[in-house]
Amino acid sequence: MLQLLALAAAVPAVLAQTYYGCYVDPPAGSLSGSTLVDYTAMTIAACELHCTGFDLWAVEYGGECTCGNALAQGSFPSFSTDCNVACPGDPLVACGGGNRLSLYGTSATAPAVTPYPHAPVTAYQDEGCWTETAGVRALDGPMGFSATAMTVAECGDYCLNSGHLWFGLEYAQECYCGGALNVNSTSVLPAECNMACSGNGAQTCGGSNRLSVYQWV
Ligand SMILES: *[C@@H]1O[C@H](CO)[C@@H](O)[C@H](O)[C@H]1NC(C)=O
Repeated sequence: MLQLLALAAAVPAVLAQTYYGCYVDPPAGSLSGSTLVDYTAMTIAACELHCTGFDLWAVEYGGECTCGNALAQGSFPSFSTDCNVACPGDPLVACGGGNRLSLYGTSATAPAVTPYPHAPVTAYQDEGCWTETAGVRALDGPMGFSATAMTVAECGDYCLNSGHLWFGLEYAQECYCGGALNVNSTSVLPAECNMACSGNGAQTCGGSNRLSVYQWV
């Protein structure tokens, strides 16, 4: 009986949680509150319990739980499939990934993000279909990948939050960011960008060595 009571007390009474998604963890970290590391039994509930009193909690790389009330600069939504490490104590649930946080919190709305600096922009415009370049990529900034969930908007937001105004989608599932297109990339006929986006069959995400290019303006 005593043991049963002890078990019951270890489970959070109210799971008032919202899953906001998979977020980038910048080099300096995303959440500045308390930390709990447990690579053998971590669960989202264990992290939530540890973070009682905080608005946000997140698990990274399977076993690293952190708490906080706001996201640091450079922490912003990434591609959903980046959070691909199972919770050691609950293998059907994701507990982040490499430099990626499964982010939860108490509010129904996602926390504000502070992107890396960029010029003020309001929308992105279609720049057409361009070739990939050899040696260095046509857009050589951060990249993202999602075999099942890539869309033009997700790539655009990811690159803008990374501080890059140009973005391109390639081979259905790849997203590349940059400050400008490499001068060796050439414009080709729209039909050469012939692959549907992995996350939206109605959108075009480049082709083989072809980029559907956009620019935030
Ligand atoms: C463009 O291609 C030339 C010839 O291959 C190469 O020497 C040059 O470094 C390339 N420029 C850039 C910016 O990648």
